[in-house]
Amino acid sequence: MSEYYAPEIAKHVFYVGAKDPNLRKFDALVHLPHGTSYNSYLVKGERKTALIDTVAHGFEEEFLGRISRLTDINKLDYLVMNHAEADHASAIPRVMEASSAVLLTSPKGAKMAERFFGIRPERIEIVDFEKPVDLGGKTLNFIDAAWLHWPETMFTYIPEDKILFSGDFFGGHISHGIFDSDVENPIGAAKSYFAEIMLPLKNWGNKALDKLDGLDIAIIAPTHGPVYREVSPIMENYRIWCGGETLPKALIAYTTMWGGTERMAGIISESLRANGVAARLYNMGNTEFSEISVEMIDSGGLVLVTPTVLGNLHPLATMFMNIVKLYKASFKYGAIVSSYGWARSASKYALDAMGAAKIEVVGSVEVNGPPLEEDVREIGELGKKLAERILGG
Ligand code: FEO
Repeated sequence: MSEYYAPEIAKHVFYVGAKDPNLRKFDALVHLPHGTSYNSYLVKGERKTALIDTVAHGFEEEFLGRISRLTDINKLDYLVMNHAEADHASAIPRVMEASSAVLLTSPKGAKMAERFFGIRPERIEIVDFEKPVDLGGKTLNFIDAAWLHWPETMFTYIPEDKILFSGDFFGGHISHGIFDSDVENPIGAAKSYFAEIMLPLKNWGNKALDKLDGLDIAIIAPTHGPVYREVSPIMENYRIWCGGETLPKALIAYTTMWGGTERMAGIISESLRANGVAARLYNMGNTEFSEISVEMIDSGGLVLVTPTVLGNLHPLATMFMNIVKLYKASFKYGAIVSSYGWARSASKYALDAMGAAKIEVVGSVEVNGPPLEEDVREIGELGKKLAERILGG
């Protein structure tokens, strides 16, 4: 008998995924203080059995161990691939080799299954989004969910159990527990995950939420983090996060070499607060991307504070602004504070970077060396101007 537990999340629907509590970096970018999980689910109908997604490479034994508690793998009828990314699809070849299951996936998913995992086309069936698959007492309905988080992604919904298998959508990087009630702050974890993965795709998220509006959902079973038995909070928060509405908040992203720009960041932070805007101060040199990215969901303002390095922005500031642009961060209004020793030029590059990220710049201050009294006053004024713009909308 397998040492792995396979909890039932609804009648004859079981959790068979894998836990990865030791992973500390995802996509070589995202810090994971709590590791992650690769969730997979086994659905036993009266006549047929289906597996929904698989696990990452290296976790096959745990995964197959959980399945073996419930069924003989070679009795599997269907393997549903909601998403082709390696963290959920790496064990597909193992399952296909061990069974005669048919792989059910979207049209784009079929091409990826062939190309990425070597699945022969005769073993793949492209789903019809209008035509459910009957397992006997349980029907698999497929919902096109393109770009959540790749173009091939789809959701699977079982109306008899009111379960939505949502892939990465509604996910969270948490390795412990099975249900939302097992996790101290599931919405906090979901918000970080949303910022790191879904934020640039929020328009697609809105489309998917509109489709889900018509469904009766009692359980949301994503591919990372807890299974939600209380679905309203996560659905409502996703509506807010995908909506893109900003709050009177500003992120102050700074980097410093000798302390001057750090003092300037502190000055503008105080000015913003004094003028009614919540300021969040982050040193780009020692803050994880994950901590900063969560502020990109709903902060109205951005202040970039950087020294001049080799006639340009500090490289960390360049990388940060690239992320702001790629992730379609929420910032509407921006301000720039820079320091220089002998030649002004960082400000020009910062302006270009703000423009590329579609941020309206309300002003900039360039300081020669450490800030003096007149610089302090000027930076304070810039903070007030930015606060007025953020509050005035
Ligand atoms: Fe968790 Fe897009 O894979």
